[in-house]
Amino acid sequence: AAATLYEAENGTISQGVVESNHAGFTGSGFVNLDNVAGSSVEWTIQAADPGPVTLALRYANGTAVDRPMTVTAGGTATTLSFPGTGSWTTWRTVTVRVTLTAGANAVKATATTANGGPNLDSLGVDPSSTGTDWSR
Ligand code: GCU
Repeated sequence: AAATLYEAENGTISQGVVESNHAGFTGSGFVNLDNVAGSSVEWTIQAADPGPVTLALRYANGTAVDRPMTVTAGGTATTLSFPGTGSWTTWRTVTVRVTLTAGANAVKATATTANGGPNLDSLGVDPSSTGTDWSR
């Protein structure tokens, strides 16, 4: 199956706001997470089958400081780096391989430092074996 895109602005946002003042996002905007530890976006994603998928978080971080986030999915938590992208209009993708159950799965990205998360654009879910089914 092809990759599926879940927009950040359609997720459940805790301590963040939807904005559109930095170009290059998909959908209607991005989530500007508050600059606090614990700011988060959560999605409910659908898996046709149990097994591994690649999650791809698209983000911008216009600062020089990493904005790490813990990503929980399928019962596991992984802390990922979201290093500076050079500007708030330069978007990059960070990926992590996780194992889902069939049906609905919660995926939550939570900022771990007082700087909060980066600006989050979307969550991609790629069920291919290579996890490289991304055109962006
Ligand atoms: C700037 C930028 C925001 C960003 C914020 C931050 O204010 O315009 O989009 O979210 O910095 O540092 O998190």
